[in-house]
Amino acid sequence: MEKHNRELPEDLSLLITGGAGFIGSNFIRYLLNNHSNVQITNLDKLTYAGNLENLSDIENDKRHSFIKGDISNAMLIDKLFNEKDFNVIVNFAAETHVDRSMLDTSPFIETNIKGTLALLEASREYNVKRFIQISTDEVYGSLDNEGKFSEESTLHPNNPYSASKASADLICLSYYKGYGVPLIITRSSNNYGPYQFPEKLIPLMIKNALEGRKLPVYGEGKNIRTWLYVLDNCRAIDMVMREGKVGEIYNIGSDYETENIEVVRLICKSLAEETHKNKEYYEALITFIDDPRGAAHDFRYALDYEKIKNTTGWKPTTDFTTGLKETIKWYINNREWINSVITGEYQEYYSKVYGKR
Ligand code: NAD
Ligand code: TYD
Repeated sequence: MEKHNRELPEDLSLLITGGAGFIGSNFIRYLLNNHSNVQITNLDKLTYAGNLENLSDIENDKRHSFIKGDISNAMLIDKLFNEKDFNVIVNFAAETHVDRSMLDTSPFIETNIKGTLALLEASREYNVKRFIQISTDEVYGSLDNEGKFSEESTLHPNNPYSASKASADLICLSYYKGYGVPLIITRSSNNYGPYQFPEKLIPLMIKNALEGRKLPVYGEGKNIRTWLYVLDNCRAIDMVMREGKVGEIYNIGSDYETENIEVVRLICKSLAEETHKNKEYYEALITFIDDPRGAAHDFRYALDYEKIKNTTGWKPTTDFTTGLKETIKWYINNREWINSVITGEYQEYYSKVYGKR
């Protein structure tokens, strides 16, 4: 079908959703720093995880404009498409935290599934040139100690977050097959870096350690994650958007796989190097708690990322020790950012997950 091979023009007019969140804000900054010919409309609902502070350094850049709104709002999406001639959609907007999805699943269905559908419908009507769906390695489920997931692996999500992302992926693929929406899916490993909301493992541990609070490790801290520096992911998404083939899925991984407890110990070590307290002070804060995820806690994620390497030449360039150090320095230098993003809602959530443990 000819529709599938639509050439990307040099000048990109992008609708980026969820651009006030962690990866989305880093991606917008990445595009503005690396390409002159981009016009970005950033549509974000500003949930607890979306913060305009994430974009304060680029607020005067004329190539970026912000609109507060919900991706599930079909009328709003239609109005935006009528006003601006978008040729690319990059859909970062999502509810993203596994623990929250186990407390209340419905916002995950509303945004991750129905919201994605609203964007697909608009893409179908307005003939965009690329629709980049930002997905996750968590759709594949969990691995034992051996092996890696490839793009061909079966989807086997184990929690409401990953189930909602897997559902969205399947609907996306059906809109490619059925209607020729020029779709590409990226599935990345766990990201870390500046501007990550302090509910995820790395920023939560840094924040708590800086405040002298407990470092709550689920179970024995033996679960394994693969860590990818956020700017490596942004570069990969940009390359896939420009050079990837429509209808395809690209895993975006790294080679840094480690047990959670090891990550927390590394954070303690790095913090000791950056502050006047020693490693033992921080390590004494480590507290093993009953796993709030129980049987739904995936043991290990690891990705085979040969396909993106072979297609675009991308590979991650920031090793974990360097990336973690940069991240820790960023959080130390941006204590006001932490204070501005945590609201009463954060305190309420924190006591729900950690209060009784
Ligand atoms: P985040 O939680 O930091 O940000 C999500 C953003 O989406 C927020 O700004 C929020 O306000 C916005 N949003 C939520 N619901 C919305 C709605 N209905 N309409 C418009 N905006 C809405 O998330 P993140 O970590 O930046 O993740 C971005 C994307 O990357 C997600 O799709 C996630 O599934 C995927 N992903 C994340 C990771 C990771 O490690 N963080 C790894 C793989 C994939
Ligand atoms: P998280 O950052 O929530 O990402 P994921 O989507 O991979 O679950 O958690 C990463 C790992 O860290 C996961 O195995 C759960 C664990 N974890 C803790 O041990 N303590 C915590 O406070 C958090 C938030 C996560």
